[in-house]
Amino acid sequence: MAAAESVSQEKTPATAGQDESSQENLPPPPTFGKTSLFILVIALAVYAYQTNVFSIWSGVVRDSHTGVESPATKPYQPYLSTDIAKRDEIVEAFKYAWGAYERDAMGDDEYKPLTKSGSNLTEAGGIGFTIIDSLDTMQIMGLEDEYKRAREWIAMNMTFDKDGHFNTFETTIRILGGLLSAYHLSDEDAMYLEKAIDLADRILPAFDTPSGLPRSQINLQDRTGIDDPNVPGLVSTAEASTLQLELKYLSFLTDNDEYWEKAEKVMKTIKDERISGPLVPIYMNAQTGEFMLSEIRLGSRGDSYYEYLLKQYLQTNRSEEVYREMYTETMAAIHDALIKRGLIQGHTYTAELVPIRKDGQSAWRHSHKQDHLVCFLGGSLMLGAITTGATGPVSVPPKPSELSEAAQKDWLLGSELIETCMDTYTSSATGLSPEIAHFWTENHGKLLERQKRDWYVKGNDFPGQPSYDARYILRPETIESLFIAYRLTGDDKYREYGWNIFQAIQKYCRVESGGYASLLNVENVRSIKMDKMETFFLSETLKYLYLLFSDETVIPLDKYVFNTEAHPLPIFTPSVRTGTF
Ligand SMILES: *[C@@H]1O[C@H](CO)[C@@H](O)[C@H](O)[C@H]1NC(C)=O
Ligand SMILES: *[C@@H]1O[C@H](CO)[C@@H](O)[C@H](O)[C@H]1NC(C)=O
Ligand SMILES: *[C@@H]1O[C@H](CO)[C@@H](O)[C@H](O)[C@H]1NC(C)=O
Repeated sequence: MAAAESVSQEKTPATAGQDESSQENLPPPPTFGKTSLFILVIALAVYAYQTNVFSIWSGVVRDSHTGVESPATKPYQPYLSTDIAKRDEIVEAFKYAWGAYERDAMGDDEYKPLTKSGSNLTEAGGIGFTIIDSLDTMQIMGLEDEYKRAREWIAMNMTFDKDGHFNTFETTIRILGGLLSAYHLSDEDAMYLEKAIDLADRILPAFDTPSGLPRSQINLQDRTGIDDPNVPGLVSTAEASTLQLELKYLSFLTDNDEYWEKAEKVMKTIKDERISGPLVPIYMNAQTGEFMLSEIRLGSRGDSYYEYLLKQYLQTNRSEEVYREMYTETMAAIHDALIKRGLIQGHTYTAELVPIRKDGQSAWRHSHKQDHLVCFLGGSLMLGAITTGATGPVSVPPKPSELSEAAQKDWLLGSELIETCMDTYTSSATGLSPEIAHFWTENHGKLLERQKRDWYVKGNDFPGQPSYDARYILRPETIESLFIAYRLTGDDKYREYGWNIFQAIQKYCRVESGGYASLLNVENVRSIKMDKMETFFLSETLKYLYLLFSDETVIPLDKYVFNTEAHPLPIFTPSVRTGTF
C-alpha cells in the first residue's frame, strides 16, 4: 500500500473449510515465545517437503475423528507444504534490504538505497515507519537478531511526540497496524500495546468533524486534525474507510469502545450517503459526510474501501452481516459497471468511471486504465467467494457446487484478473508491471492493428523522462493475490508466477551496495533506478512472497485478516459490539 492508496487480503472459514478438530492439531504460526514449536513446524515442513508426502493425496479425505481415510465425500483439502529453497532466497532478500537500511539509515522513516541514506516523512523527524513496517515480517521469517534490534529501537528511541503533519491513513495502517500485529505475534509483548494505545489516542482527534469522517492529516503532538492542503475540506474514501480493522482490534484488546465507535461511524456514514449505488466516488466532504462528484475506481483512493468491506466481515468472525451485504452488493455492481475485456488478447480488466456533463445532465464515461493497486482484487474476490458465498465446506480449489452462483462468478473474475495482472508483468520488457496499464479501445482505430497485447504504458516513449505510469515501485498487490490464490487452490502455477516476479525484482531492482530500488521505466531493460525503497517492500512484497512459498499453517487464512499493509491481525468474535447500523 502506498500514500493515498492501499491493498491486501486474508480470509477466514470457521464454518466452511476444514473441520475444527483437525485444525486444532495443526501447529500455530511461529512466535518468539514458542521457539520449540517453531522448530517443530520447520521440522515438519522439511519432512513434508522432502517426502512430498502430503501433496500426493488425492481424492481421499482423512476423517478427523477416526483417522480413517474415506473416498472424497467431504471437501478435498490437500496439505500445502513449504518450498524451502525458494523461501530461503526470499529471506535472503529481506535481510539484504533490511541490512542496508539498518546500516545506513536506522531510525529514519524511509531508505534511499542509491545514496545510502535515509529520509523522514515529516520535518519533525522519524517515527520508525520502516522499522515498524518490518517487524512482523521478521517475526514470521524467524529473524531473531534483526527483530531484537528493531524492538530495542522502538522501546528506547521511538516517540510519537512529534510536531508534524502525519497522514492519518498511512500512520494507522503502517504504524498502528504494525504494532498491533507485532503485539499478537510476540505473544503479547506489552510494550507494543502501550505504544499502539499512545498512537491511537493521538490519532483519534482526526475524527472530530461534524460528519465523523477523519481528516486526512494529524499533528501527533498537538493532537489536532488537519485537512489535506491539496483538497481542503475533502477526505479520500479509501483513507476514511481503511482504519477500521486496526481500531476495532485495538478496541477488542483494550475494551475501549471509543476506537470501535469512531471506526464504525465512518462505515455508517458511507452506507447512508451512497447515492449512485454501491460503487462510491473517491472523495467525501468531511463536514457533511456527502460524496463529492469525483471518479469511481478500484485503484488509488478507492481500492482499500472495497478491500476492507470483506475484511471487516471476516475480522469479527463473520458476525456482522451488514458488511457481508455491503460486500456482495458491491461486487455485483463491479461486475455490472466496471468489468471490460481487452480487444487484442481478451484479458479481463477493470475500468474507471469519470463524471461528465452530457446534454446538460451529469453522466459517467469509462476510462480504460487499471492501476497496479487494483491487483489486490483478484485474490480478494476469490477469498470473498469462498467465505461469503459458500454453501457448506469448501474444497481446495472449490468445486462449483460448493459455491453460490454469485460466488462462482466472483471466483472466476478473481482468477481472470490475476491473469491480467500477470500479463502486465510477463509481457513487459523487464518482467515488472507498470504503475498504471492503459487498455486499447475502439477509439484507437488503426493503431489497434499493430498491437500484440491488450494494454500499453502511456508516455513511456519520451526518452529520459518516462511518465509516472511507467514505474515499478516494488508494489505488492499482485503477489498478495498470488498468495491468496495459492492457498485457496493449491495450484503450483501461482508459485511459478510469484517466482518469476521475484526473479525480475532481483535482476532489476537489487542495488549492489545493499537494498532494493524502484524502477523508472518497466519497458526499458536499461532503465535507471529511483532512489527509494518503499516500506511496503519489507512489509508486504517480501512477506507475501515468503507466505506464498510457506506451508499453509503459517498465518492461516481462516485465523487471520491482513490489514492493507499486510500486517496480520487475528480474527476474533466480538462479545458486545456489532455492526447493526
Ligand atoms: C529523521 O528523524 C530522526 C529522528 O528524529 C533523526 O535522528 C534523523 O536525523 C532524521 N533523518 C533525516 C535524514 O533528517
Ligand atoms: C537510541 O537511543 C540510545 C540511547 O539514548 C542511543 O544511544 C542510540 O544511539 C539511539 N539509536 C538510534 C539508532 O538512534
Ligand atoms: C468463530 O465462530 C465459530 C462458530 O460460531 C466458533 O466456533 C469459533 O470459535 C469462532 N472463532 C473465533 C476466533 O472466535
